[in-house]
Amino acid sequence: MKQLAIVFFSLLLAACSADRQGRERTSFNNDWLFSLTDNQADLSAPDADDSGWRQLNLPHDWSIEADFSKENPATPGGGALPGGMGWYRKHFKIPESDRGKQVYIDFDGVYRCSKVWLNGHLLGFRPNGYISFRYDMTPYLKYGQEENVLVVQADNSQQPNSRWYSGSGIYRNVWLVKTGQVHVDQYGTNITTPDVAQERATVVIETTLKNTYAAVVTAELTTIIKAPSGKVIAHTSLPVELPENGSDIIKQTLEVKAPELWGIKNPALYTAVTEVRSGNQLTDRYETTFGIRTFRWDEATGFYLNGEPTKVLGVCLHHDLGCLGTAVNKRAIERQLQIMKDMGVNAIRTSHNPPAPELLELCDRMGLLVQDESFDMWRKRKSPYDYAQYFDEWHERDLTDQIKRDRNHASVFMWSIGNEVLEQWSHADADTLSLQEANLILNAGHKIDPALLEDSTMSVQSLITIALADIVRKLDTTRPVTAGNNGVDPANHLFRSGALDVYGFNYHEKDYAPFPQVYPGKKLIVSESTSALMTRGYYQMPSDEMYIWPESWDKPFDRPEHLCSSYDNCHVPWGSTHEVTWHEVKRLPYASGMFIWTGFDYLGEPTPYWWPSRSSFFGVVDLAGFPKNVYYMYRSEWTDQPTLHLFPHWNWKEGEEVDVWAYYNQADEVELFLNGKSLGTKSKNDSTYHVSWRVPFTPGTLKAVSRKAGKEVLAQEIHTAGEAAELALLPDRRVIQADGTDLSFITVEVRDKAGNLVPRADNLIRFSVEGDGFIAGTDNGDQNDPNSLKKPERNAFYGKALVVVQNTGKKGVIRVKATAAGLPDAVTEIEVE
Ligand code: GAL
Repeated sequence: MKQLAIVFFSLLLAACSADRQGRERTSFNNDWLFSLTDNQADLSAPDADDSGWRQLNLPHDWSIEADFSKENPATPGGGALPGGMGWYRKHFKIPESDRGKQVYIDFDGVYRCSKVWLNGHLLGFRPNGYISFRYDMTPYLKYGQEENVLVVQADNSQQPNSRWYSGSGIYRNVWLVKTGQVHVDQYGTNITTPDVAQERATVVIETTLKNTYAAVVTAELTTIIKAPSGKVIAHTSLPVELPENGSDIIKQTLEVKAPELWGIKNPALYTAVTEVRSGNQLTDRYETTFGIRTFRWDEATGFYLNGEPTKVLGVCLHHDLGCLGTAVNKRAIERQLQIMKDMGVNAIRTSHNPPAPELLELCDRMGLLVQDESFDMWRKRKSPYDYAQYFDEWHERDLTDQIKRDRNHASVFMWSIGNEVLEQWSHADADTLSLQEANLILNAGHKIDPALLEDSTMSVQSLITIALADIVRKLDTTRPVTAGNNGVDPANHLFRSGALDVYGFNYHEKDYAPFPQVYPGKKLIVSESTSALMTRGYYQMPSDEMYIWPESWDKPFDRPEHLCSSYDNCHVPWGSTHEVTWHEVKRLPYASGMFIWTGFDYLGEPTPYWWPSRSSFFGVVDLAGFPKNVYYMYRSEWTDQPTLHLFPHWNWKEGEEVDVWAYYNQADEVELFLNGKSLGTKSKNDSTYHVSWRVPFTPGTLKAVSRKAGKEVLAQEIHTAGEAAELALLPDRRVIQADGTDLSFITVEVRDKAGNLVPRADNLIRFSVEGDGFIAGTDNGDQNDPNSLKKPERNAFYGKALVVVQNTGKKGVIRVKATAAGLPDAVTEIEVE
């Protein structure tokens, strides 16, 4: 009887046109209405008056549009930009032909505390501003000519809630997803490669199939594997029976012969195509890219990728994109990653939250490893209104969603369940819960060994660590669980929990050497290091007071150890210099790698300064994307690219003593010349990563020559610059795509008449565009510039500025003009094709 019913239902399905097309996933970014409001009015009703609202396309970050101000409650720590309450509304129609399909809305991220309504029905609330989420719109949709109204409230009014700039609003992409009623569930593909050998790899695919019919259905699940070349190399099909309004997980195992391994140099990506057929119709088709590769961690010798010892050469990155704020733009993320890769970076830590999906897609494709991090706080808050208030209720859901979303990414090689969470420590904030109470809070949906609750040495903090690591391991056992710790003592509750596979040390470089004695058998990664302070283009001289920041700024720490005595010696008290940290990680084989704090300057956390500073000083690259000098130290150590980098500029007072440094590689020595006269030849030693000379200034030409076995490798000259005479516009790409999002990043240099950068130029530069583009932002890397980064004008900062131009979706030409008083106009053209 049951069989008969299934057959009948299958026939019914075959007749149902709605299930015929598989899956459609389209951008839902365009044509939203937006209003930023202080009042508490509920604007969720479909007929609420939105007639005067601003029209815009997503992704959108409303905070970045404002000027910086110390009055903003986010404080300079949060970027000195406004938060507030934002409302977004979108009016749209769904064709009659979609009736009978499942229609979902996917948000990649909304900052924060979002509520979403469709046609007046509340679809849900998500407090976490970094998590991706989906709602099923099917029950409330209207079809045909009737209008639907989707409303999103983003509540970033409780401030401060972040230790860095968060941005505000629907700052990531939004997608409309339509499937048949028998379809792959959200994050419903889980791909692992348990056996990888040269001759073959086993690919195990677990697919969660969902049936939203009120009847049992039979379906067929087909999985096809395509090689990196696009060629189909394996496929398998399986009949399945799905319960009414239910789901099932189906396991398929395939074999790939002579697998091409995903790696840093050759990031080969396979594609799994999942097809679901029911009643002879294709009801879903879903593609997942994945990599075949192996990871191994050795307590004595560090990390291995595909059997090769691989030092993790990483940077921590926050999610803002400089003058674009946090509004996701794939090209802007790609540019950041390219700049990092050119420096030799092979790994990114998504400090301290789940990243935009685009970052992971790019890392997969570009061969960058990712430490995917979940939380900056657990139950104990770090800012007055941060996620700690939601942790008890939401941690399991958020962590689960993150792992499920990200676990197929070839690039993800570690999960970090927290950064410097205050639960590390016992003192002052000892948890007031009993173990049993904590277990009740944490145990929803997953079980902790009851014996642990009777163990008198177990603490609540360790219990939380175990609970979070358990959530991860239930979903993925192929990657280690770690956490970033600034308490590196064995008393740390995270270490004591025994739940961390790899110990993440933040800072404390003196503790790397004794690690094997203190933690026998454990594995070490430097999850965060350095926190050195630098401003691109600014140099303190030995004759100066040794502070790296201009005299007019507040000096934050009046402590002798904070004085900066060289170009690479200025760091916060818990940090260290770039060279010292790298030296430790380089020389200790069991230090599997490091993540520099940070790759780029980011908005917020101007530590150790405060207003008028509003962005950080920690980056190896400034907020505009211009490398600071130490970038080339890493490039000389972390890449094989022949490098010679000489600095500073050559415009000083006659007779002033100037420290001249050079970073180099692939050579034995560097000789320095001033106006043709040799100032001597120098070589690096085992623990310094630069050579230097102290030179009394006289104008002219400084020249460095690197040599190997007496033969010149590279040479670099710096000339004393004259008066500013021209603006040079230097686009990173002259041809961009007509897709509405692609960007050209145009560097502006103030130059003298011989073409030398004028190193202290601060001319006000005004930008305008004609044609098929607009100015998406401007910047100069100055951490103290109070002007909105959306303004079409910018002062040069130490000779440089940046204008970012975005296309409007039309093919054509964007003509960009830069003007500055007393200088000829400069023009450049960007083709949009
Ligand atoms: C670390 C922290 C980072 C950042 C950094 C600044 O302790 O994990 O988020 O605040 O300090 O030095």
